[in-house]
Amino acid sequence: MKIAFYGCGNMVQALFPKGFEQTSQDFTISAYTPSGARAKEFCRPYNGHVIKSLNENENSFDVVVLGFKPQQLNDFEIKKFSERTIIISLLAGVSINKLQERFQNKNIIRLMPNTPAKFGLGITLISAAKEVSLDSLKFWKKFFESTGVSYLCENEDQLDKLTPVTGSGPAYLFEWARIFQEYLKNLNLSDEDSSLFVKNLFLGSSTMLSNDSDDFETLRNKVTSKKGVTYEALEQFKEEGLEDITGKALDRAYNRVVELGRES
Ligand SMILES: NC(=O)c1ccc[n+]([C@@H]2O[C@H](COP(=O)([O-])OP(=O)(O)OC[C@H]3O[C@@H](n4cnc5c(N)ncnc54)[C@H](OP(=O)(O)O)[C@@H]3O)[C@@H](O)[C@H]2O)c1
Repeated sequence: MKIAFYGCGNMVQALFPKGFEQTSQDFTISAYTPSGARAKEFCRPYNGHVIKSLNENENSFDVVVLGFKPQQLNDFEIKKFSERTIIISLLAGVSINKLQERFQNKNIIRLMPNTPAKFGLGITLISAAKEVSLDSLKFWKKFFESTGVSYLCENEDQLDKLTPVTGSGPAYLFEWARIFQEYLKNLNLSDEDSSLFVKNLFLGSSTMLSNDSDDFETLRNKVTSKKGVTYEALEQFKEEGLEDITGKALDRAYNRVVELGRES
C-alpha cells in the first residue's frame, strides 16, 4: 500500500509506527514537511521517500495522511487526489464535507488520536464518510488498535464533542503533573525526586484506575477519611468549583473545535 504523509509532527510520529510494526500489510512510505527535516527522520526506518514538493506524485498514493495543523489547510497546494485514494485526516474540527469538497474526493476518514498512542495506550476516535468501504474502515480500525483503543464514532459530531476529553486530555494531566512537581520543588525536593514522585503518583493511580474493580468515586473515597487530610484538599477543590471549571474548560475547547472547522 502506498501511503503519503503531509506533515510528520508529534501526532503522526506517535500514531503510525506501532501500526506499521504490527500489521502484515506492506507499506511504501512517502512524506512531506515544509522543511523536509521531520519527513526525512520519519521515512528513515522504512527507507521511505521524502516528497520535495506538494505536487509530486499526488495521484499515485493509495492513502494520504493529513498530519499538519488545521490552520495550514489553506496553504496546502494540492487541490485534487485521485478518486481511489483514501484521505486520512488528523485535522481537528475540519469536517468530512469540507475535505470532500477541498480534495474532490469522497473517501475521507477523520481521526482524533492522542499522544499516548506512542506507547500503545492511546485513544483513536474514527469517523468516516459513507463512501469509505467497510473493508477499508475495518482495516484502519484494526491498524489503530495497535496504538490503544480504536473507537468508531456514531457520527462526526460525536468525534468533535469527545475531542476535548480524549484528544486534548493528556495535556490537562501533564499540566497537573507540572503543578504538583512545582509544589514539591518549593518544598526543596530536587528535580529528580520531584519528577520521580509525580511520575509514580500518576502511574500508580492510573494503574489502580485500570485494574481495581472499584469505580472512580469509590477509589477516591478510599483515600479520603471524613475530616482527614485528603478531605480538606478535596473540600478546597469543591469550594473553588473544580468540577464547574473543568466543564467550562471542556466546553471552551469544544467551541475551538467548531471555530477551527469554520476557519479552515
Ligand atoms: N498533538 C496532539 O496531541 C494531537 C491530538 C489529536 C489531533 N492532533 C492533530 O494532529 C495534527 C498535527 O498536530 P501535531 O501536534 O502533530 O503538530 P506538529 O507537531 O506541529 O506537526 C505539524 C507538522 O505539519 C508540518 N507542516 C507545517 N506546515 C505544513 C504545510 N503547509 N503542509 C504540510 N505539512 C505542514 C510540520 O512541518 P515541519 O516538521 O517542517 O515543521 C510538521 O511536520 C493537527 O491537525 C492536530 O489537530 C494533534
